[in-house]
Amino acid sequence: MKKGYMISLEGGEGAGKTTVLELLIKYLDGHNIEYISTREPGGVNISEKIRDIILDKEHTEMDGRTEALLFAAARRQHLVQKVIPALEAGKLVIMDRYVDSSLIYQGYVRGMGMDEVFDLNQFAIEDLLPDVTLYFDLSPQVGLSRINKDKNREVNRLDLEKESFHQKVREGYLILAEKFDRIEVINAEKPIEQVFDQVIEVLRGKGILNEQ
Ligand code: TYD
Repeated sequence: MKKGYMISLEGGEGAGKTTVLELLIKYLDGHNIEYISTREPGGVNISEKIRDIILDKEHTEMDGRTEALLFAAARRQHLVQKVIPALEAGKLVIMDRYVDSSLIYQGYVRGMGMDEVFDLNQFAIEDLLPDVTLYFDLSPQVGLSRINKDKNREVNRLDLEKESFHQKVREGYLILAEKFDRIEVINAEKPIEQVFDQVIEVLRGKGILNEQ
């Protein structure tokens, strides 16, 4: 039985998800809140291997449905092996991407349909959805200019897509945010401290953080 809260972080490239995650971790450490922080696709050995297959730049022939199935498979193993045990132990689980990424990237952008991709994922997640999903929203122009400044960042196959792709990603997330109350839109064009403040405010508002 689930006892801890589950938070997922979502957003397009350059939205500052990683930086916010680092700040959040510092914050939780400072307040002695028990948590685990993990990422998708990956988080456990088998899922990290699936991640390598999915993100390999040489795999240009990968079929869309194959990709969707691999993401769902990685997700399933990660949930069973790492996320569910942590939730049962009463820990806060922070997920860097979760099922919404599949709904957007495979369902909406690649055109397999959000409902279809949700049904496929339902087999993997069995109704386990986050208590809150933070969507870091910013224009593709701002996102891409941030990425290009950060030369050390690993560039993966999906990063190589063009700007219209990023526009479509944003469009999809905003549709999802309208549809689901659990999704909170964070203005990620603001300076990082202000982005982080919005995150803390949302988590307090949802009763996930209640320290002084
Ligand atoms: P990653 O380097 O982790 O990207 P980011 O730092 O932006 O989170 O690569 C993950 C990529 O995989 C990212 O482009 C989004 C994509 N993705 C999907 O297409 N479907 C999914 O279900 C997930 C979890 C990720």
